[in-house]
Amino acid sequence: MIITLDGPAGAGKSSAARSLARRLGWCYIDTGAMYRAVALVALDRSIPLEDAARLAELAESIRILFVEGRVLVDDRDVSTEIRTERITLATRPVADAPAVREAMKRVQRRMAEGTDVVTEGRDQGSVVFPFAELKVFLTASAEERARRRFREEVARGHSASFEKVLDSQSRRDEADEKRPVGTLKPADDAILLETDGLSPEQVVDALLALVEARRRPAEPPDRRP
Ligand code: C5P
Repeated sequence: MIITLDGPAGAGKSSAARSLARRLGWCYIDTGAMYRAVALVALDRSIPLEDAARLAELAESIRILFVEGRVLVDDRDVSTEIRTERITLATRPVADAPAVREAMKRVQRRMAEGTDVVTEGRDQGSVVFPFAELKVFLTASAEERARRRFREEVARGHSASFEKVLDSQSRRDEADEKRPVGTLKPADDAILLETDGLSPEQVVDALLALVEARRRPAEPPDRRP
């Protein structure tokens, strides 16, 4: 079974997808981390970020694994490095290139072959796995998402201003919604899950309930006259 979890930054996708996969004992694919990993390796190898053909080749040649909450690229643990501002900035041109997205689609479909997965990103239900058995689009108000990001930054010991976090988030949302490829939008058959006011545990419980409902065989139609 394939479950896709898409939505904007700060909607709580990553922690929800990871916990859901753990609770179900399924594989977890963090597609944002995959784009970030390509950007990191491209910078390491001095591949220009405008060279879409080489980036696409790179996307198909590196081996990305998710092991116990860590991201490994060709056996190197890049979990921390891919979250730095330098990589966040470099990831944008990588994720905007249609050739890279096509390559990623192939890689992600191969990763999900013959196994149960929870996959998380922007385009998983709409583009990569349109045939997924369950598609969920997680949302939360812009203020709530910025509040969560702001708290994370403070917890990491970074000095942050709520207004700045909200402003940079709004700009990223707008770019994600407007770009011609990998556009952030729910698949037509996705279930919208609004996470304002829900704790991470409540989000996972809501997702588990949706999974259970999908797994239950449909009631046979009542044929009595
Ligand atoms: O989710 P995360 O912040 O790690 O995503 C990193 C970057 O990759 C973002 O710019 C996001 O728009 C992009 N991305 C994407 N398609 C996905 C997942 C992430 O374009 N399926």
